[in-house]
Order: sequence, then C-alpha cells, then structure tokens
Amino acid sequence: MKYNQMSRLNCGANIPIMGFGTYSCENVREETKQAVKIALKMGYKHFDTARIYGSEASVGEALTEAIFVDQSVERQDIFVTSKLWGSDHHDPVSALNQTLLNMGLEYVDMYLVHWPVQLKPWATYPVPNEQDFERVLDLETTWAGMEKCLDMGLCRAIGVSNFSTIKIQRLLSFASVPPALNQVEMHPMWRQSKLREFCRDHNIHVSAYSPLGGPGNAWGSTAVVDDPIIQSIALKHKATPAQVALSWGLSKGGSVIVKSFNKYRMKENMRALDLRLDDRDLLDIERMEEKKIMRGEFLVNETTSPYKTIQDLWDDEI
Ligand SMILES: NC(=O)c1ccc[n+]([C@@H]2O[C@H](COP(=O)([O-])OP(=O)(O)OC[C@H]3O[C@@H](n4cnc5c(N)ncnc54)[C@H](OP(=O)(O)O)[C@@H]3O)[C@@H](O)[C@H]2O)c1
Repeated sequence: MKYNQMSRLNCGANIPIMGFGTYSCENVREETKQAVKIALKMGYKHFDTARIYGSEASVGEALTEAIFVDQSVERQDIFVTSKLWGSDHHDPVSALNQTLLNMGLEYVDMYLVHWPVQLKPWATYPVPNEQDFERVLDLETTWAGMEKCLDMGLCRAIGVSNFSTIKIQRLLSFASVPPALNQVEMHPMWRQSKLREFCRDHNIHVSAYSPLGGPGNAWGSTAVVDDPIIQSIALKHKATPAQVALSWGLSKGGSVIVKSFNKYRMKENMRALDLRLDDRDLLDIERMEEKKIMRGEFLVNETTSPYKTIQDLWDDEI
C-alpha cells in the first residue's frame, strides 16, 4: 500500500512527506539546478534548502523556470523550505527577504531556525570560529522575527531544526505561534523516539534529515545502508537498503528529506513510498544500535559558545 503523500501541519498547510535535499559539499550550481528539474519531473514536490548550503539560487532557478517558463507545475503545488543561519538571528525578516531574492520566489512554505545557535552577523560560513558566537541564545527575539516573517506573508509556516525537546519546551513557553515542524537527523540508527513522542503530543511535525545516514557525505556514514538488519529486510521485500531506511522514516508519520542528484537513485528513493515495512521489520530495526552522525561539534566550545559540550547542545538527548 502507498503512503498518503501529504501530512497536515498544525498551521493547516499540507507538507509532501517525500522531501528532496539540496545540500552538497561541492555545491555546483548547474548540477543542483538540473537535479531539481529532474526531481520535479519525477514528482518530487518538497524541496529543502538553506542560506548556508549556497543552493538557494540554483533551486530557485529550477523551480521558477518550471513554474513561470515551462508552466509544468504550479507554485501552490510545490513546498519550499529554507533556513535562517545563526548570523541572521538578529533579523529574520531581512534574511528571509534575501532568501526570496536568491530564489526568485514571493514566499517560502517553511522557514526554519537552522540551529539553536546565534552567531555574530559576519559569521556567514558553515563552521564558526571561536570569536563568532553570541554567548547567549536570545530565542525570544529570534522567534519574534520568525513570527513577523509569517505575519508579512514571506513564509507560510515557521519551525525549527536541530532542537531538543527541552529547547522546544522553552520555545513553547513564550511563542505566540508554535513551531509547525522540527527538522532533525533521523534514520534507523538514530530513531528519535523521545523527540517524536514529545512532538506528537504538541502537534509538531518531525522531518527527518539524513534519512540514509548521509552515505557519501564527508561527515556522513554508510552504516545505515550497510547494516545487516537493513540489508536483510531489503532482500525480503525485494527492495534496496535505501528504500528500507526511507520507508522506516515514513512509517513514523513525519516526512523525510533525502538528497540524491543521481536520477536512478532519485527514482529509487521515490519508490520508497510504495514500500510498507511489517511489524517484524519495525521490531528488528528497534534492535539496532543507535549512533548520532551529525553531532554538531562545530557549534561547541569551552569559551564562547553557549554550549560547552555536545551534551549541552542536545540537552543530554544524545
Ligand atoms: N537541518 C539540518 O541541519 C540538515 C542537516 C543535514 C541535512 N539536511 C537536509 O537533508 C538533506 C538530506 O540529508 P543528507 O544529504 O545529509 O543525507 P542523506 O539524504 O541520508 O544521504 C545523501 C547521500 O546519500 C546518497 N544517496 C542518495 N540516495 C541513495 C540511494 N538510494 N542509495 C545509496 N546512496 C544514496 C547521495 O549520493 P548521490 O547524490 O550520489 O545519490 C548522498 O551522498 C540535505 O540535502 C539537506 O537538504 C538538513
């Protein structure tokens, strides 16, 4: 049986559950653009980018050509996510306006606080230096700016990324608009049971990034797709390990954001929507050892970061 391809968010919008990631460390503009064009033709409708990926312009170019030139798709049928980098926490409205300019769009569907880390305005690169950190995270001011983005119609929904349950709880204590979504690392080896339960209780959608464990990424791992349990479930269903990992992510009721710029693997990943794991498979996956891959070491230091240790960053949820 196929998965229902949309999920309803707490703000009333629908999010397509199969998302297309656009982070690649090479960040070759034409390659990203072509990949998005192929993905659109294959039926992907949810595109994930961020200021810090440097992919907003190429994603925007592919989408606007499809919408306004080829007219092969309508804007309202596409779901676009972008993210606020730490250096822009003081002014989300200007940051999102810049994102919209980069993409050639009038609005994004989802705007996320990328990490719970505030940086000095000049720190517009992925790995901050010691002098780039604000010592305190002023989430109240940042979230007020996110709510303003929503009020101004620059985005249709707002949310967070890489937030622990404790950080979301804090956010909920003062937010006028609760986050619609938390985008976090999630795959069969980092299952996020506690966070999923918390988000379900608060009607916050969980979106899984690195749903394959990021094989091929400098910081990623092939541990998920190479795992014997995943491989044997794949064999049993005549599926691939990647499809098993994606289907597991989808079985948890949220969405997955998978990146491939290879048309065969894009198609393979899309077909995970047709694969349903059975109870036995799900139990077997629960037995897998857990290991977080994206630990966020680059945001931790003993002097200037509000997070002195990895445990501080994730509030011991690691
Ligand atoms: N919010 C955040 O902090 C955050 C962090 C990380 C990622 N993300 C988002 O999530 C997206 C996906 O995460 P990710 O790129 O880290 O990890 P991923 O989707 O788990 O893995 C991507 C890697 O797997 C390869 N791949 C894709 N499909 C495959 C398949 N069927 N079989 C084998 N290998 C396959 C890709 O290579 P090919 O391209 O060669 O196929 C690429 O190297 C990112 O692009 C980004 O949009 C967000």
